[in-house]
Amino acid sequence: MPDTSAPAPDPDTLFASLRQLPEPPPLRQLLTDDPTRADRYVIQAGDLRVDYSKHRVDDSILAGLFDVARSAGVEQRRDAMFAGEHINVTEDRAVMHVALRARSGVSMYVDGHDVVPDVHATLDKMAAFAERVRADERITHVVNIGIGGSDLGPAMATRALQAFAHPRIRSSFVSNVDGQDIADVLASSEPAETMFIVASKTFGTVETLTNARTARDWLVAGLGEEAVADHFVAVSTNAERVADFGIDIANMFGFWDWVGGRYSVDSAIGLSLMVAIGPDHFREFLAGFRTIDEHFTQSPLEANAPAVLGLIGVWYGNVLGWWTKAVLPYADELARFPAYLQQLEMESNGKSVRLDGTRLTTDSGPIVWGEPGTNGQHAFYQLIHQGTRIVPCDFIGFANPHHPYRHHHDLLVANLIAQSEALAFGRDNTDEPYRNFEGNRPSAVILADELTPSTLGQLIALYEHIVNVQGTIWGIDSYDQWGVELGKELANNITPELTGEPAPDRHDAATNALIAWYRAHR
Ligand code: F6P
Repeated sequence: MPDTSAPAPDPDTLFASLRQLPEPPPLRQLLTDDPTRADRYVIQAGDLRVDYSKHRVDDSILAGLFDVARSAGVEQRRDAMFAGEHINVTEDRAVMHVALRARSGVSMYVDGHDVVPDVHATLDKMAAFAERVRADERITHVVNIGIGGSDLGPAMATRALQAFAHPRIRSSFVSNVDGQDIADVLASSEPAETMFIVASKTFGTVETLTNARTARDWLVAGLGEEAVADHFVAVSTNAERVADFGIDIANMFGFWDWVGGRYSVDSAIGLSLMVAIGPDHFREFLAGFRTIDEHFTQSPLEANAPAVLGLIGVWYGNVLGWWTKAVLPYADELARFPAYLQQLEMESNGKSVRLDGTRLTTDSGPIVWGEPGTNGQHAFYQLIHQGTRIVPCDFIGFANPHHPYRHHHDLLVANLIAQSEALAFGRDNTDEPYRNFEGNRPSAVILADELTPSTLGQLIALYEHIVNVQGTIWGIDSYDQWGVELGKELANNITPELTGEPAPDRHDAATNALIAWYRAHR
C-alpha cells in the first residue's frame, strides 16, 4: 500500500521537464494540420463525449503530463481512495463518497467495515420516505434547509432534473442566514402542506440551525408543537444534535464521516432530490456516478477523461499561469452547476499547505465560475474572446432538450459550437485591431444526448475525479476545509457584540469602527 500521507514530489521537481517543453503551435494550426486530432482528442466516458481537441496541448505535452501524473502517484492515490484509506490526512478519515453509488452486493471497506450494506439500507429508508411524501396529497412543498454541500448539490440537481420532478411537489432550498431567504420561502408556503428537510452533516452549522429554528417556530405557530414530527425530518451524521434540536431520530437519515459535504449529493443529503424525482430516478443518478467511477478506475491515464482534463488544468495553471476556469453549460437547467463546482473545486483544492505540512511552492486550485449560455455571451464573453488573460472554458451541452421548442435548442447548440470555434480560430482584422480576434483560446466541449439523472451523475463524478487528480499532483489534502473555520469563529464572537453592552473595543480599529457603525445604525 502506498503511503497516503506522503505528498507527490515537490512541484518544482515534478514540473521541471514540463516547463522545458515548447508551447504548442496555435490551435488553428494544430486543428488544420492534423485532421485526426478531432478524433484522437476525444474520450467517450460513459455517455459523455469529452472533446479536448481545442485545448492547447499536443502529443508531447500530453506525454509530459502523463509522466507527471505517474511520478505524482495519481493512480495509486485514486486506488487508495477507492480502498478506503485515510487519504483525508488532516482529519484522519477515509474519503469514500464512491461507496455511495456502489452496487448492492459489492463490498467496500472503511476501517475494516463493509459500508455498502449501510449505504443501501439508508437508500431504502430514503426511498420509503420519498414514496410516502410523493403519495401524500397533503404535501405540496418540500423545503431543504442546509448550506454548502448540504444545499448546493440537491439544489443544483433538483433544478437540473426538473423535467423528472413530481408534478405536485414544489422544491425550495433555504441556505443563507440572511432572513430574506427563509422569509421568501415561508411567505409562499402553507404549514399543513410543507415538509422540511434539515440537512447538515454536523448539525452544528449556525446558518442551518438558525433557519431550521425559524421554520420550526413558523410551523408550530400554524399547526402546534405536535405537527413537528410529521413535518420535519433531518439528514445528518450527528444523531445526538438532531435529537437535541427536537427531531425524533426515527425521522433522521444518516450518513458517515467518510462523506465530505461537497461530495454528499449522492448520500442522504440528496433526500430532497429523491423526493422530487423519485427513488428510481435517484438510483439512475447514482448509476451515472458509478459509470464514471468505473471509467476513472479502469481506463489508462491516456484515455481517462478526469485524468486528461485534470492534467490539462495543471498544465495551464502551473506552466502557463492560467488560474481560472469558466464552466459554461448550454442548458438552463444547469444554472447552478457552476456554483456547485465552485464549492467542489475551490473548497477541495484551494489549499497552500501540502500533506507533509510544508508550504506549496506553486499555486493550486483554479478559480471556477460561469453562467449558462447563451446569457453569458452577452455579458462576460467579451473578456474571454479579447481580454488580456486566457480563460480556459468547459462548454457543456446536450443533443436533446426537455422542452418542445426544437428550433430554440438548435440555436442554443449552434451557439455552443460557434463559441468553441470562435475562441480557437479567432478572426484576423489588421485594419481595425479592436475587431481582431486572435483566437488560440482553449476550451473543452462535453456533450451528451440528454440531461438525465444518469448523465448528471456522470458529469458530477467527472469533476469530482478531476479534483482528485489535481489534488494528488499538488500534494494537498483535497478533502479537508480548515480555511472556513476562522471566519465562522470570529462571526460567533462578533454576533453578541452587535447588540450587547458595553460596546466592545477589543478588535483592531477598523473592525471596531464597523461594529460601532452597525450599532449606531441598526
Ligand atoms: O463551512 C463549510 C462547510 O463545512 C462545508 O464543507 C459544508 O458543506 C457546509 O459547511 C455545511 O456543513 P454541514 O453540512 O455540517 O451543515
